[in-house]
Amino acid sequence: MLKTLVENAVTQIAIFTDDPGWHGARLKRAFAARGFHSCYVSLTACRLNLDGNGPPISIPGFAESLPDGAFVRGIPGGSLEQVTFYLDILHGLKLLGIPVYNDAHAIERTVDKGMTSFLLRQAGLPTPPAWVLSNREDALALAKREMENGHQIVSKPLFGSQGEGLQRHQNLQDLDYLAESNGIFYLQRFVHCGQQSHDFRVFVIRDKTVAAMRRCGQSWLNNVAQGGRCEPMRLDDLLLCSLAEDAVKSIGMAYAGVDIIRDAQGCYTVIEVNSVPAWKGLQSVSKAIIADLLADDFLSLCASPAPQIQAVSP
Ligand SMILES: Nc1ncnc2c1ncn2[C@@H]1O[C@H](COP(=O)(O)OP(=O)(O)OP(=O)(O)O)[C@@H](O)[C@H]1O
Ligand SMILES: [Mg+2]
Repeated sequence: MLKTLVENAVTQIAIFTDDPGWHGARLKRAFAARGFHSCYVSLTACRLNLDGNGPPISIPGFAESLPDGAFVRGIPGGSLEQVTFYLDILHGLKLLGIPVYNDAHAIERTVDKGMTSFLLRQAGLPTPPAWVLSNREDALALAKREMENGHQIVSKPLFGSQGEGLQRHQNLQDLDYLAESNGIFYLQRFVHCGQQSHDFRVFVIRDKTVAAMRRCGQSWLNNVAQGGRCEPMRLDDLLLCSLAEDAVKSIGMAYAGVDIIRDAQGCYTVIEVNSVPAWKGLQSVSKAIIADLLADDFLSLCASPAPQIQAVSP
């Protein structure tokens, strides 16, 4: 007599990270609660196998088959060659039809603050005037002109840094310390936001705001990593939410953390958009369970394999 054996093939998710920590654990738990197995993988341990034998990408922990989806929680730093290679792995997975969240294009566009500013401006969204250039003399001349027109300048590392390495230049003497980031100057006009420094972090998934907070800095830097205090916010500020959603749309991302500041005239302006945002601080003041919302959205892209039915002899 034949009997059927139904094997529920478990969908496998790769969480790319070198430091799973709080966020990795929350994601893993959210995936598991939805019946999906996941494991942490470092992009440094992946490989391109371009010899025509087997899959062109190998990922530790996925010897039998490639993952059904890849959630990117971190890309390690490194040389230009190393980072290019890590992005190649993500691009390659997407080309093989595997959902990558956020995908390498979105990450490239936002890790680089110059391209983020470019895309926001192209989309006609409010964002402070910014300049990206490699010549120190020209950078100094630009900054000087801004100051003569009554503005202050912020210089930032081109790549995201959780508030590290940013400098505020308030007067011409400050420009002696104008810092480059590996040969590139990223300058942005400083936005005055009133007595108590604060900005807004808005978390958008699939074009919809799911959580937001006010961040109050101990200095002009409002990053949580720099000691910024998180304050809860309702999601009824439609101007703020729709600006964040438009920013995410203009860059083409599945989800993002958008940093928005309100200027002295009361107008919102987008400072930057994060494609691999942390949400621990935001979670501490939000009712929505952000890891669950991310898992639901991401897993909707990952096709669950149909149960395999095998005929076996008794
Ligand atoms: N143009 C500006 N005017 C006023 N404050 C600014 C400006 N740019 C940045 N800031 C302050 O500095 C903080 C950090 O800036 P930004 O978000 O651009 O870089 P980052 O947080 O270091 O980058 P990432 O989030 O990618 O790690 C902002 O949250 C804001 O408080
Ligand atoms: Mg930021």
